[in-house]
Amino acid sequence: MRIAILASEGAPYIKSGGLGDVMEALPAALSRIEGNEVVLVLPYYKKIKDDPRWETEFVCHFDVQLGWRKQYCGILRLKNRKDSVKAYFLDSDYYFGGRSAAIYGHGDDGERFAFFSKACLDSLHRIGFIPDVIQCNDWQTALVPTYLQAMYRDKFPKTRTMYTIHNIEYQGWAYSGFFDDVLGLPWEYRGTMDMNGAVNVMKGAIETADLVTTVSETYSRELMYPYYAHGLDSIIANASWKLTGITNGIDLDTFNPETDPNLPAHYNANTFVEGKAACKKALQQEVGLPTDPDAPLMVMVTRLAGHKGLDLLCYIARRLLWEENCQILILGTGEERFEHFFRELSEEFPNRVAAKITFNLGLAARIYAGGDIYLMPSKSEPCGLSQMNAMRYGTVPVVHATGGLRDTVPPCDEQGQGGLGFTFQSYNGDDFHGAVKRCLDLYNHNQDAFTALQYRDMCQDFGWDVPAGRYMELFKKMHSWQ
Ligand code: GLC
Repeated sequence: MRIAILASEGAPYIKSGGLGDVMEALPAALSRIEGNEVVLVLPYYKKIKDDPRWETEFVCHFDVQLGWRKQYCGILRLKNRKDSVKAYFLDSDYYFGGRSAAIYGHGDDGERFAFFSKACLDSLHRIGFIPDVIQCNDWQTALVPTYLQAMYRDKFPKTRTMYTIHNIEYQGWAYSGFFDDVLGLPWEYRGTMDMNGAVNVMKGAIETADLVTTVSETYSRELMYPYYAHGLDSIIANASWKLTGITNGIDLDTFNPETDPNLPAHYNANTFVEGKAACKKALQQEVGLPTDPDAPLMVMVTRLAGHKGLDLLCYIARRLLWEENCQILILGTGEERFEHFFRELSEEFPNRVAAKITFNLGLAARIYAGGDIYLMPSKSEPCGLSQMNAMRYGTVPVVHATGGLRDTVPPCDEQGQGGLGFTFQSYNGDDFHGAVKRCLDLYNHNQDAFTALQYRDMCQDFGWDVPAGRYMELFKKMHSWQ
């Protein structure tokens, strides 16, 4: 099958979050399936252009018509990709070059990604790759199914589209004039793009894509509820016949404690007791915490954003620090109020709390390896990858039972039996506190059961082969329709 995957980020070239990880592993997994030909298209951000690791060759250039404007687009092919995925970067100095390093957050993001979405379709046609399936992701490439249906059907007569929602919170809202000014879609698509008098590109994709997926089974059900759907619950409900949840995997080669070059010591499921102890000691030294092997080290690697459940941690942190001889380590950047809170907490408890307010992938890996307990109390979590990274590195998760967290962390009882971590059902600080306490009790009073739980976590198969197979089933299903 010929599959084109379109996205605004993809590791190892460019990544700001989980979408980037998925765009590294999913194309690779699909390309390992016999008979598949996979093309990945990303914007040629300045950061990729300037990175000497990526050797590209110029393919061709053309103009993209976007509303009244015509903009240059160059196609570059990556020459040194190791697997069989063909990666292309779309070059536009105006939209993706020259600016600050941030990949999102520019005043004209709507126009930038409308350009990219349209340019993807033009580019696939130019390079002569007429896919059986286009898989596109989040609001940034949400215009692709609509453009295809409205303006490119003659070029892609049999191509089907799958739209994947990684997070419904970011929908691509724009003022209503955006429809005429930028999109340049035929007038009969105004209703498709309209949501409460404004343009909403995610809504358009949900309506025009042949199939819609999201990144876990539980999240696909949660999206029917206003609490989770950020205004799109009725749109999702109407499209529920074509919505499927496929829980993400993680890249087992990148996230492997036996080979991860970021770690001071390597280990596997049989050697983790010594391996993790060495990693814990080195981590405590690196972040300036006392190298106490017995103090449970609770860790979090996260964007400091509201939906990650940081308000719950803020609520219980002091209480936990008074009650327990534990250490807390946080890595991430984000909202000012949380950065401030954790900085202040680490000043108040310098021997117990470390806050690294930065983005550092190497340190993130050392935290997955050196931690004992991984906290992830997200208010909502479409899938979540770091709980899987943590388990693969033998760190026991404590999570809110929502979205992908619910699907990947079945709950243990108080003796640490029957599941993979500790969970709480309703989103409040006291229930989170209860789950953390159950985990700490096991750590403090039943080391054997805690070690057995770590072993089970490490033995789970979180790879991409199963999810990639489920994507394939849906791709085939779309093609069985007349
Ligand atoms: C988004 C979601 C996260 C998910 C990731 C990859 O970042 O917030 O839950 O794991 O996308 O699909």
